[in-house]
Order: sequence, then C-alpha cells, then structure tokens
Amino acid sequence: MGCLFNFCKKRTKRQQSFSHHGEDLSGKTSIKKYTYKEIVRSTDNFSPSNKIGEGGFGSVYKGKLRNGTIVAVKVLSTESKQGAKEFQNELMSISDISHDNLVKLYGYCVDRDQRILVYNYHENNSLAKTLLGSGRSNIQFNWRTRVKICHGIARGLAYLHHSVVPHIVHRDIKASNILLDNDLTPKISDFGLAKLLPPYATHISTRVAGTLGYLAPEYAIRGQVTRKSDVYSFGVLLLEIVSGRSNTNTILPYEDQILLEKFPEITNGVLLLQTWIYYEQGGLEKIVDSSLGDDLDLAEACRFLKIGLLCTQDVTRKRPDMSKVVAMLSGELDVDLEKISKPAMISDFMDLKIRSMRKGNDIATSSNFLSSIMAHSSPMLSNETTQASMSFTEASDRE
Ligand SMILES: Nc1ncnc2c1ncn2[C@@H]1O[C@H](COP(=O)(O)OP(=O)(O)OP(=O)(O)O)[C@@H](O)[C@H]1O
Ligand SMILES: [Mg+2]
Repeated sequence: MGCLFNFCKKRTKRQQSFSHHGEDLSGKTSIKKYTYKEIVRSTDNFSPSNKIGEGGFGSVYKGKLRNGTIVAVKVLSTESKQGAKEFQNELMSISDISHDNLVKLYGYCVDRDQRILVYNYHENNSLAKTLLGSGRSNIQFNWRTRVKICHGIARGLAYLHHSVVPHIVHRDIKASNILLDNDLTPKISDFGLAKLLPPYATHISTRVAGTLGYLAPEYAIRGQVTRKSDVYSFGVLLLEIVSGRSNTNTILPYEDQILLEKFPEITNGVLLLQTWIYYEQGGLEKIVDSSLGDDLDLAEACRFLKIGLLCTQDVTRKRPDMSKVVAMLSGELDVDLEKISKPAMISDFMDLKIRSMRKGNDIATSSNFLSSIMAHSSPMLSNETTQASMSFTEASDRE
C-alpha cells in the first residue's frame, strides 16, 4: 500500500514537471513528428530486407528519410496500448536529452495503435555483434579503443543518472544496447524506453526487460529499479569489454573449465565468477583479452576489472555511483582504496529463489519470474533478451 502511495506520488511529480511547459509540448522541442506514410516510405513498407533486428521492445528497420538521412526505425510492440497524448508527454522527457554518448532520437510517429521511434542510424552496429559476436567484424578493438568505449559508456550513463532531471534509469544496459559511431564512439541506445511502456492499470507492475547475465539481483528478484541496478549491468559490460568475452559464454578454455568445476550451478555470469576467482588469487591479468596487442596497458586493464567487480557488489550501497565510476576509470579516484567482496551472481539468485520458496514468503511472484529466467537459461539463448512481466513489490528510483 505504501508502495502504491510512493508510486502515485512519483507519477504526480513527473506530471508536474511537464505541466510548466504548457499543453502544447510538441512545438517546444526539437523532436519531429513523422507521418506513418513517411515511415512506411522510408522503410520500403517495413521490408524484411531493411529489418536490422528485433529486441524486447519491438522490431528495428533501417530507413531513408526524404532528405536522405539514414535512420533506425523502432516499431514498439506495446501490449497495453497507451494513449497518444500520454505517449507524447512521456516522449518529451527524453527528447531533449542530448549527449555525445547517447543515441540521438530524431522523432516519433503515432498512428492509431502504432508507436514508432526514429533514431540516428549507426553503421558500426553494436558491441554485442562486433566485439562479442561470433560473426566476423573488421573492427580492431585495440586497448585504446576499448578504453575510449568504457569511458564513453560511463559518461553517457552518468549523464542519465546525474544530469538529467528527473534522472533516468536505463534498465537494460548491455552490449547490444551500445552502438558504435563511425569513429567507434559508443552510443547508449534505448534509454528512457521503459518510460514509454506504461504500467498496467490494475496493479503496480512493469515490464522487466533485462538480459541474463546483466541483471542486478535486487532488480531480478524484487523488481527494484534504481540507478545502482544500471551500475551492476555496467560492471558486467566493463568485464566483457576488457576480456572480449560475453558474461554468459559457456565455451571456456580447458584451464578455466577446471577452475569453474567447483561451481557447477553457474551457467550464467561465468565471466563475473571467473574474474572474482582470479581476483582472489591475484591473477586478474588472466581475464584480459589475450588477443590485445602492443598498446595494452595491463595495469589499467586490471584496474578496469576491479571497477567492474566493485560495480557488481551484492549490496547496492557498496556499488559506486556512475560519477564515481567515471572518476575511477580516469584514475582520479583510486579503486584500490575500496574493499571488494564477492559479487552477486545468478547462482545466488537461485539460492534466494529456493529460500523464498521454502519460506513461502511474499516474493513468490519473483520466484515465478526466476523460474521463467531459468527456463530460458540455455547457452543458446545466452545473448538474447529475456523478458517477463512481474509485479513490483516496490517501484522506487531511490537507493
Ligand atoms: N540506432 C541504431 N542504429 C543501428 N542499428 C541499430 C540501432 N538501434 C538498434 N539497432 C540494431 O537493431 C538490433 C535490435 O535492436 P533492439 O534495441 O531492438 O534490440 P536489442 O538491443 O537486442 O534488445 P533490447 O530490446 O533489450 O534493447 C540491434 O542488433 C541493434 O544493433
Ligand atoms: Mg536495444
């Protein structure tokens, strides 16, 4: 009940923050409203040959606008159809956000029950495809490039968390949501998308859209969305960039298989567990991508891995906020002054699930959610989006 009260309070606050703009918000922002006809034309009627992917929020098409601009067109699949006005209002809260490390939203289209977003198109695809993907990529991710990517993502996220008012929690930071510009500047995509999908009418619930291996435990289990759940996902991403491996990749070299035999329950979060084990043994350099060449700064790479471990601490309070992460990455703050404990991992989620089932306590809904996660946790699906709808026991943006 108290949670419901908090949630209502939040909505009211957000609505108030818009009201000072007046009724006609559309004329006051740089965002453009496209006609459905123009979207259809630009994507050649959503031609399959223009489809560049499909994620948790819908399908993405490559399109060409009348003025020649190449765009990415995201067709949202919302189960609960939101009113056009409310959709536009929520959109205004993200439309003015501009940062070098965020994908630019050009505009939108609302037509009957269609909700479409038009973004800047980034030719170099995502980190998931180019750095971690099995397919060949011509991009050379040398150490300096990776440093630039880590700094950029951290700055973009810090901007969403600390400079935007009210702040934005991304909720789905992962390699496929990091797009790369021509000069390999990272661009965080899909920020603010959760806002555009309204809570269901009957109870406080939200779409938990996260990906196995990136989900912070408190988000997966209790649905608590805070900036610190983004910090957790960023930590995992950091480890992936330094190691050049996906956190959920179960194909390991023989030596690593032996190391992990003690933990047969770990099927996801392998990289995180491995990084922790090597950290304890004083051998973090074994995690660093062995394909990195001459420009590798091993001390810096190990420092980044420690920051990744710090970001994934079980207790949210112990995770640094993103402004601190930015300072740690640049060396302004010393990560070695922090105490790093064992990070939270998927096996720990299972422990909690079992405990909650034994007690039959009030996080039963979360257990259902976890069952659905586990049902999907085959290595085949390791990089794909896992989604579920779950009830929120609390919907708080505070940590
Ligand atoms: N602005 C863009 N420019 C170029 N490619 C894009 C753009 N936005 C998305 N894509 C590509 O479209 C594909 C699908 O993206 P989408 O965001 O729908 O799914 P996802 O990132 O895999 O999962 P999620 O729904 O959790 O974000 C991705 O492979 C991504 O590389
Ligand atoms: Mg995405």
